Amino acid sequence: MPSRRRTALALGSAVAAIALLAAPISATAEPSPYTTGADGAGDPYFPLAGNGGTDVLHYDLDLDYTPAPPDPAPIEGHLDGVATIDLVPTQNLSRFNLDLRGLTATVVTVSGKPATFTQTDNELAITPTKKLKAGKKTQVVVTYGGTTTRPTDIEGALYGWVTTRDGAMVVNEPEGSGTWFPVNDHPTDKATYSFEITVPEGLVAVANGLPSDPATTVDGKSTWYWDAPDPMAAYLATASVGDYVVDEYVAENGTPIFDAVDPARLGAPSEDLALTSDMLVFFESLYGPYPFNSYGAIVDDDSVGYALETQTRSFFSRTASEGTVAHELAHQWMGNHVSPHRWADIWLNEGWATYSTWMWTEHRGGDTAQVSFADYLTIPADDPEWDLAIADPGPLGLFANPVYDRGAATLHALRVKIGDEEFFELAQTWVERFGGGTASTADFIALSEEVSGQDLEAFFDAWIYTPEKPVSW
Ligand code: TRP
Ligand code: ZN
Repeated sequence: MPSRRRTALALGSAVAAIALLAAPISATAEPSPYTTGADGAGDPYFPLAGNGGTDVLHYDLDLDYTPAPPDPAPIEGHLDGVATIDLVPTQNLSRFNLDLRGLTATVVTVSGKPATFTQTDNELAITPTKKLKAGKKTQVVVTYGGTTTRPTDIEGALYGWVTTRDGAMVVNEPEGSGTWFPVNDHPTDKATYSFEITVPEGLVAVANGLPSDPATTVDGKSTWYWDAPDPMAAYLATASVGDYVVDEYVAENGTPIFDAVDPARLGAPSEDLALTSDMLVFFESLYGPYPFNSYGAIVDDDSVGYALETQTRSFFSRTASEGTVAHELAHQWMGNHVSPHRWADIWLNEGWATYSTWMWTEHRGGDTAQVSFADYLTIPADDPEWDLAIADPGPLGLFANPVYDRGAATLHALRVKIGDEEFFELAQTWVERFGGGTASTADFIALSEEVSGQDLEAFFDAWIYTPEKPVSW
């Protein structure tokens, strides 16, 4: 029985053969026409996430934010923004889209000239006065703003720009970035970022990367400046605002750390953050050098049990426990530096992060990874835990339990099958080869076979493509 993977490969080469045959014909055709960029990046789970026809290089976000007034006023804030976006058209464009949701664009310029635009649900469609030529870098400036609320994802979980009484928790996975800036919101279009965030005096605005200048205060408002020079998927951007206590230090591996902790969460709820330095050293020994210019945590006091691996600055709501601190740090390599090519590839994010905590626990003298694996396999075959093919969990199953635990178990089973040396060579080559971009499940299978020299088709069929408990592999 051919697996999906083999089918996809066969199809790929057929397409390549057709393209080769077609090449001489298109070479003599008219220069390609100016067309409309697609309203999505082509991800079947979220058809309107991201856009076609543009490659964003840099977002410069100038934000002015007022949080919600005290109880009993509704939890609504106000955000005014100017987004200056450097992008390269990847096709000749007469029109293109950015994702923007719940906020209103008031002025748009392209290459300094006023452009016309329309807004629907998730889409801001921009028609420049002069058409855009493929490959020719241009600058788009969007002035926008409006009321901020508490948006939710398709599962009903808070995400995006989540308004709070004392600020905002900003956590976008998988496609919530359009709730606070106009964006090509798909991991396949990574970009660098800079931020200038103005908030009422006394509040701290924390984004990715490092402060580029000290904060300034004028007329009761403070402005915080951040620069994030490492390419980043939009879902990992943050600009959280709160009444934070800031702590800056340098970790043992040399990484500058910037932590921001809500005063209500100081002490026990955030004390495990002190393990960050040791964890950086440990994960570097497994995966290679820490990939970014800085790290740190935001610990907020909003909803319960939330954590997100926001790039260089993991977000924790209420509690940063040891396992979660390890999980979000491991994501910096696995998920952030190497990001999912399609959202269906999410098991590679959550499986690696979960497996990383198994290995950290072993390193600390707790259960070995082998014990965690054996525990997981005690779940009976008729338990719904085994009903999900984790390589295609569906948009509503992205963060389902098996994506995490079966994902981790898959990696442990692979380690046992190919051997420790090959497994860690695989991990490091994965990060080295695909770091700064995205990679798919097919890429992971191909690299596993390359590094191990084994045919792993039956292995991956059993572990990630079959909605049953694996029995042999
Ligand atoms: N990726 C997060 C984790 O490490 C889970 C998550 C998914 C999330 N979407 C989110 C967290 C949105 C906060 C907000 O487990
Ligand atoms: Zn995770």
